[in-house]
Amino acid sequence: MPSVLCSCRRKVPEPETGTPRWQTGVMAGRPKATPRRYHLHHGDAMDAYENWSAPDLIMVDGPYGVGGFFGDPRTPEPLADFYRPHIDAWTRLSKFSTTLWFWCTEVGWANVHPLLDSAGWDYVETVHWDKGIAHIAGNVNGKTIRRFPIANEICVFYSRRLEFPVNGELVQAKHWLKNEWKRTGLPLRQANDACGVKDAAVRKYLDTGWLWYFPPAEMFQRLVDWANSKGDVGGRPYYSLDGKMPLTGSEWASFRYPWNHENGLTNVWQEPPLHGKERIRGTGTRHAPRVHNPKAGVASAHLNQKPLRLMERIIGAATNSGQVIWEPFGGLASASVAALQMGRVPFVAEINPDFAALAEDRLKEASSNGASAETE
Ligand SMILES: C[S@@+](CC[C@H](N)C(=O)[O-])C[C@H]1O[C@@H](n2cnc3c(N)ncnc32)[C@H](O)[C@@H]1O
Repeated sequence: MPSVLCSCRRKVPEPETGTPRWQTGVMAGRPKATPRRYHLHHGDAMDAYENWSAPDLIMVDGPYGVGGFFGDPRTPEPLADFYRPHIDAWTRLSKFSTTLWFWCTEVGWANVHPLLDSAGWDYVETVHWDKGIAHIAGNVNGKTIRRFPIANEICVFYSRRLEFPVNGELVQAKHWLKNEWKRTGLPLRQANDACGVKDAAVRKYLDTGWLWYFPPAEMFQRLVDWANSKGDVGGRPYYSLDGKMPLTGSEWASFRYPWNHENGLTNVWQEPPLHGKERIRGTGTRHAPRVHNPKAGVASAHLNQKPLRLMERIIGAATNSGQVIWEPFGGLASASVAALQMGRVPFVAEINPDFAALAEDRLKEASSNGASAETE
């Protein structure tokens, strides 16, 4: 294939396993998830990833660099080194349609963002969790504090960059779409005839700037059919990733993550910190450097337990029923509990045996309506 002229070319990275990055998920034939089950790994997530089904969504709520649990560094600088091998695994084992949600402090995330970006994860937006005044009430000494009290956390949303190899280089999907059409030798305007539109195909689907639209399955299929039946015979197949068969419209559509929009919901979420019934109480075991003499049945079992409501929002927006959720840093497995309740299939790891045992209890309870366990 001739090379694509664009400013965004970069070398195809060598795959660490036999699976090239663009042959991901469905195409790479990873193990299929069994519906209505949870998979809890008692141990390091790094030892679990290879056995998990390809993720549709990865909920990352790991170290923040604030000493929030034993193993969380006390400053954010070491976070990049901590997350590097995890990011490599997420990238290698995910699909084009996988989304990644990264909970952290702002400065913790700032240390990790460059790694995610260079691994091919595109920043989409930041969700702000405003915990409100209740979060700091009674905890601020106005005489000694020299900043505004912090009452928020962020969760940064990433999607996989859609890139395809052309002559040993990865190019963005929009450049690949246009390049493939050019290879057919057909005039650009025939893309409009192929799609049965006046000018929208050239203007939207073959644009290589910010006006580019992701062609829907039907339109992609029309472009493929036209290119492969009327394009230069010597260059066929067109719109193929393996050089043998063109992609189908539904394969193309599967490269995009689902989005279930809820009117009125923005990226700023007001939600009080967890109290009451949902907050899991501990056994009296000390579980964080900042916690001293926790009282059994009174102190929180985990400082970082997330509200199920926030997890449900993310999972409900970016996945559909039956899809696979990864929660590599489980804690009390809030994302996985929400996932189970919503008919998704969670894969979760927790390295601390006390937290893992509590997570197991929650997952069992959440699954009492039909899901079954698989503990590793
Ligand atoms: C921020 S907490 C997660 C809290 C969780 N979202 C919840 O709602 O309960 C991070 C957790 O990751 C666990 N962890 C840290 N490194 C890990 C690793 N390599 N593999 C598995 N779990 C890990 C810690 O023990 C900790 O419980």
